[in-house]
Amino acid sequence: MKKREFLKKVAVFTTGITLFPSCGVNKIANATNKIKRIRTAHIGVGGMGMEDLQAIASHQLVDVAALCDVDANNLEAAKVLFPQAKIYKDYRKLLKEMEGEVDAVIVSTPDHTHAPASMMAMELGKAVYCQKPLAHKVSEARAMQKIAKEKSLITQMGIQVHSFYDYKLATLLIQDGIIGKVSTVRAWTPRNWGYGPAPEGEDSVPAHLDWNLWLGTAPKRPYKEEIYHPGKWRNLLDYGCSTLGDMGVHIFDTPYNALQLDVPKTITNKCRAPNGFGFPEKSEVTYQFPGTKYTTENHTWIWSDGEAPAPHEDLKLPNDEMLHDQGAMFIGEKGRLYLPHFQLMPKLIVNGKYQDIDISKFNLEEPVRDYAVEAPKHYHQFIDACLGKDKCTAPFSYASRLTETILLGVLAGRFPNQTLHWNSAAAKFEEEEANQYLDTKYRTF
Ligand SMILES: NC(=O)c1ccc[n+]([C@@H]2O[C@H](COP(=O)([O-])OP(=O)(O)OC[C@H]3O[C@@H](n4cnc5c(N)ncnc54)[C@H](O)[C@@H]3O)[C@@H](O)[C@H]2O)c1
Repeated sequence: MKKREFLKKVAVFTTGITLFPSCGVNKIANATNKIKRIRTAHIGVGGMGMEDLQAIASHQLVDVAALCDVDANNLEAAKVLFPQAKIYKDYRKLLKEMEGEVDAVIVSTPDHTHAPASMMAMELGKAVYCQKPLAHKVSEARAMQKIAKEKSLITQMGIQVHSFYDYKLATLLIQDGIIGKVSTVRAWTPRNWGYGPAPEGEDSVPAHLDWNLWLGTAPKRPYKEEIYHPGKWRNLLDYGCSTLGDMGVHIFDTPYNALQLDVPKTITNKCRAPNGFGFPEKSEVTYQFPGTKYTTENHTWIWSDGEAPAPHEDLKLPNDEMLHDQGAMFIGEKGRLYLPHFQLMPKLIVNGKYQDIDISKFNLEEPVRDYAVEAPKHYHQFIDACLGKDKCTAPFSYASRLTETILLGVLAGRFPNQTLHWNSAAAKFEEEEANQYLDTKYRTF
């Protein structure tokens, strides 16, 4: 089933509500002088969803109105914290019943449910905070950006480090020309979200989990313990987006933002042959981008995951220092800017030596090194934008392009060592066989 059909099905399921309510469209943006508090619904409240819930609720003008999770244990834990909220295990039912009692929807589910849940919320004119990556498929990311634009909705992708000191500083430094035009960015993590072929057999589904709802629009599979839920889904093709689609969204966010990149022209993923179930354990992905005013005419990204990056001149640190296990290196005409991940100051390297950086002209506040203090800022920015007091810095217009870029690299893992050519205007690869993976058939559930 394609997205349009899914939304039609949703309309059938939600008989009695209007999927395109005129009053719901842009409701928040148009009535900021009337709305004094934001009522939130949270879809997925275990794992990161619990952090999202608490960070959003820590805004003093938020009322948590509804909680949804397919795992009754996680739902119960959230309900203890917010006993006044209504609880649901099916987000479609929540959105149908609470349409008039919710202003903003927070989506913190596994990646394959980001678009189906967010699209339905946006069809109802709701502001949406959706975890990274924005979507599981390129076509979904584009559809999410389109509807957010058409309805002028307030949106934010859940990349909270986007609002952290060191990343903002690195963006200012790069745009100020500290290393001149940037030819290459290298980014790396040793994390490994790979997995082998599909396991055999079936386990009984625990009583607290609704497996059909967990699968949602994704293909049906027998339940197996320790393979999918919780968290393990990120290693699997049908539900997650591999290490690149997870850590890459955070680590490439600053280069993407600072260099004002669009989507790439070519992508090559060096990895093992696909097995149809789990992602490769190691990848090295090379992207070529059209130039921008902050880059050389052609700009290259090189991503490496699953182990430490191969030694390279670009990654040599002064004084034989060890490279931080995760991070990014900008390579420019006048030097390099090293941005370890995370909450660490960017460092300038020129001719093999560290150089002091004058940051006084940027008028930044003092760095905050406490995650618990920094992280809520990104969430509060979203709520403040809903209240008409601020602007989101990672809206879907931005997040969809970053996500598309990341997902193209993930998809290229299906064609190991082959260079794929992306036609952004047509939203197609020149290599016809790769186009089947841009969209997805939605299962009726
Ligand atoms: N921004 C960050 O720093 C960060 C960190 C971790 C995870 N994430 C993102 O958060 C999302 C969740 O990741 P996680 O590690 O918490 O996964 P998880 O599997 O640990 O938790 C997902 C939660 O969603 C629930 N859920 C699953 N399907 C659902 C559905 N259809 N409706 C309602 N609830 C559903 C699960 O029961 C569980 O409570 C992912 O998109 C991930 O990329 C972001």
